[in-house]
Amino acid sequence: MKVPFNKPVRLENHAEVLAEAVNCPQLAGNGPYTKRCEDYLDAALQVPTRIVTSATHALEMMALVAGIKDGDEVIVPSFTFVSTANPFVLRGARLRFADNDADGNILPGEVERLFTSKTRAVLAVDYAGASPDLDQIVELCERKRVPLFEDAAQGIGATYRGRPLGTIGNLGCYSFHDTKNITSGEGGALIIRDQSYLEAAEIIREKGTNRRKFMLGLVDKYTWVAMGSSYVLSELNSAYLCPQLERINEINARRGELCRRYERELGAAFERVGARRLAVPAFNKPNHHMYAAVFSRPEHRPSFIAHMKGAGVTCPFHYVPLHSSPFGRTFYDSGVPDELPGCDRIAGNLVRLPLYFNMTEEEQSYTIERALEWLRSGV
Ligand SMILES: Cc1ncc(COP(=O)(O)O)c(C=O)c1O
Repeated sequence: MKVPFNKPVRLENHAEVLAEAVNCPQLAGNGPYTKRCEDYLDAALQVPTRIVTSATHALEMMALVAGIKDGDEVIVPSFTFVSTANPFVLRGARLRFADNDADGNILPGEVERLFTSKTRAVLAVDYAGASPDLDQIVELCERKRVPLFEDAAQGIGATYRGRPLGTIGNLGCYSFHDTKNITSGEGGALIIRDQSYLEAAEIIREKGTNRRKFMLGLVDKYTWVAMGSSYVLSELNSAYLCPQLERINEINARRGELCRRYERELGAAFERVGARRLAVPAFNKPNHHMYAAVFSRPEHRPSFIAHMKGAGVTCPFHYVPLHSSPFGRTFYDSGVPDELPGCDRIAGNLVRLPLYFNMTEEEQSYTIERALEWLRSGV
């Protein structure tokens, strides 16, 4: 049997929904399907959201609306995907890399340590559908008067102290890439809690024009009013996303069942080899984005991954730390990166198990049996 790491969500009515979408007069974005997605998110989050082409692009929009420019400093966790950082570098920012706790979330004390008179934004990543203690970071950002941007790419359906992830920063985002809990193939959402950014975000999303105002009948023609780009998702992608958004609780609950079964059947065996699983802080309601173990001995991960691969089961790891990457090093004057031990520990030892909504009992049983073979082999 082969078990991939991920399969994009497929619902029983997806073929029917897409057939309807193909026959609609409009395939470009901002049609009825995009509106249905945005209406759902507006109601669920209680803040305005805009469906966009990816989380990477939502982050680019954040850098643009914040007016990030050459020489500005931006604090980002080192343990994250390149998309958290690239949008700010594209605007000329100098990155300052922060360390993380044992579960991969940025340490609030690091934000304090890295802050300088040139800091213009702080990025917090909600890792694995949980989060750092965001209130502490919000307090610090408010005190220093810089915006907090919340990369909740993995966070849909999860909460922090009862509030949806993505709505705690001034701006936030979700990703609907194939690998996320729900997907439009490629896609994302920009979450606009701080509405002082709303108009600028709408203009940037619509190629620098006031087209949205025109569509709402607020102006009689639309024109070029500022710098912008093309961040509207097509209707076909929105159509694929719609039915999943409307069943997000069921989809996340199924992922929760899969995670609990992994933990029931593998937890003790992982413990025996000194591998911990990511903990969910009490302030989070998780969305079960990931089931991952963090080994305590560096030789364990490659050996485990090779064993699983040999049995046809794909178990990936991530992220390669940004601060010590070839490009990340260029942000240190000396070329020598800071030591970020929390980042190196998790990046060097974490492994993820296959997890997706449509995973069958057989696929999971097979994965568990193969993992137990390695875990019980006397390593
Ligand atoms: C933390 C984080 N930020 C941003 C992204 C980028 O998302 P997208 O593929 O929608 O651009 C990802 C994707 O994996 C991610 O994990």
